[in-house]
Amino acid sequence: MDQTEFISKFDSLILNSPTRDYYGQTEFFNVGYWHPETQNQQEACFNLMEKLLAFIPEKQGTGTILDVGCGLGATTSYLLKYYSPADVVGINISAKQIEKSIVNAPGCKFICMDAVQMEFEDDLFDNIICVEAAFYFDTREKFLLEAMRVLKPGGNLILSDVIFDTTEYFGGFVIPENIVKDIEEYKNLYNRAGFQQIEVVEATDECWKTHYRDLKSWIEEEFQGGKIDEPTYQANVGAIDVLLNLSSSSIGYLLVSAKKPVN
Ligand SMILES: C[S@@+](CC[C@H](N)C(=O)[O-])C[C@H]1O[C@@H](n2cnc3c(N)ncnc32)[C@H](O)[C@@H]1O
Repeated sequence: MDQTEFISKFDSLILNSPTRDYYGQTEFFNVGYWHPETQNQQEACFNLMEKLLAFIPEKQGTGTILDVGCGLGATTSYLLKYYSPADVVGINISAKQIEKSIVNAPGCKFICMDAVQMEFEDDLFDNIICVEAAFYFDTREKFLLEAMRVLKPGGNLILSDVIFDTTEYFGGFVIPENIVKDIEEYKNLYNRAGFQQIEVVEATDECWKTHYRDLKSWIEEEFQGGKIDEPTYQANVGAIDVLLNLSSSSIGYLLVSAKKPVN
C-alpha cells in the first residue's frame, strides 16, 4: 500500500474504540512485556519501557532522547520518568497521532516526520528509542542508517522490533524488504549500518504470545458481556488466533540495543 493509505489504515487501527478500551487509560499501542505477575496490558507496556530503558546505563537527568514511531505519545510520556520534557522529541508519520501525542506528553517536542528520512542534523541525539515500529518502515535498513546519522558518537539506539519470514500475516502493513531469516541476519543489518555493541534479546513468549493470549480472553469477555457483536468478535478472534499460533520460525519479538561508535 502507498504511504497515504498506510497512514489512514494505521490511524483507524490505533484509534478505534475497542483498541483504546483494551489499552485502558493509557495511550500505548504495543504488545508489552509480561512477567508472570503482570495483571494487564497497561502494566505490560510499562514493563516493556523499563526493559528497553535498562539498556541505557546512565539516563536520569542526562542527555536527549528521540522517540521514533511515537504512536499516541504514551512511550514519549513514559520517558519523562527519566528525562526532562525539553530533552525529549517524538516523531511519527501520522499527523493525527502527533496531535494526540502533543496532548499526552506535554512539554515534549513532536514532529510529523518519516523515520527513514529524518529532517535532523547529524550527531544530534544522545539516545534513540523506537518501540515496535521499525518493522513497518520502508525500509528498516534505511532507518538504521538515519539513526546512525542523527545519533551523537557513543549514542544508544534501543528498540523493540518484530522479525517475520513472510508478510502475509500483517494485512499489507509490512514490506518484503523487511523480512529477515533469523537473529544473525537481523544483527548484520546493524553491523552494516555501522553500529557496535549490538545486543538482541529474543522475547517472543514474554511479549508477543502473552499479549495475544490476553487480547483473546479480553475479546471473549467483551463478546460474552454483549459489548462486541458477533461479526466483530468472529473477525477479530480469527485474526488473533493466527498471530498467536505463528511458529517461532515465522515470528520473533526482539529487544535490541546498539551503540554508535565514538570514532
Ligand atoms: C505499533 S505502533 C507503536 C507506537 C508506540 N511506539 C507505542 O509503543 O505505543 C507503530 C507506530 O509507528 C508509526 N510509524 C509507522 N511508520 C512510520 C514511519 N515511516 N515513520 C515514523 N513513524 C512511523 C505508526 O504511525 C505508529 O505510531
